[in-house]
Amino acid sequence: MIEEAKKARLKAYVPYSKFPVGAAILLKDGTIIHGANIENASFGLSNCAERSALFSLLSQGYKKEDIVSMTVIADHNKPVSPCGACRQVMFELLPDNCEITLANLSGETKVMTKETLLPYGFKFEDTLNT
Ligand code: THU
Repeated sequence: MIEEAKKARLKAYVPYSKFPVGAAILLKDGTIIHGANIENASFGLSNCAERSALFSLLSQGYKKEDIVSMTVIADHNKPVSPCGACRQVMFELLPDNCEITLANLSGETKVMTKETLLPYGFKFEDTLNT
């Protein structure tokens, strides 16, 4: 999956940061969904690789239950650290048992879960006053 995340990274559109990031999500049927960061001259409209991959997955008709693992990679001196917005989206759209591997091009990895990435994350139940 590291190789798949590297392939996804090559699709990044990053004229501003020049920091390409790739994400690859493995599904139970063997399908692999790629995501890359896509930036915009209006910087705030840029989309991270993690969210690109998850939004693409749902747009193609797949569901949280189909997901086995997610791998994210960038060229950095430590495994890439997903931003807060992506952690929140991953918290909602990845299954509870999902293995999340953060990586860099030097071969370093950090394996995490939704809960270790975003402890006490906000979820649907928290919108209900029960
Ligand atoms: N970025 C990602 O796509 N994923 C991460 O985990 C970290 C940051 C992107 C956002 C922006 O396009 C560029 O990296 C620099 O912040």
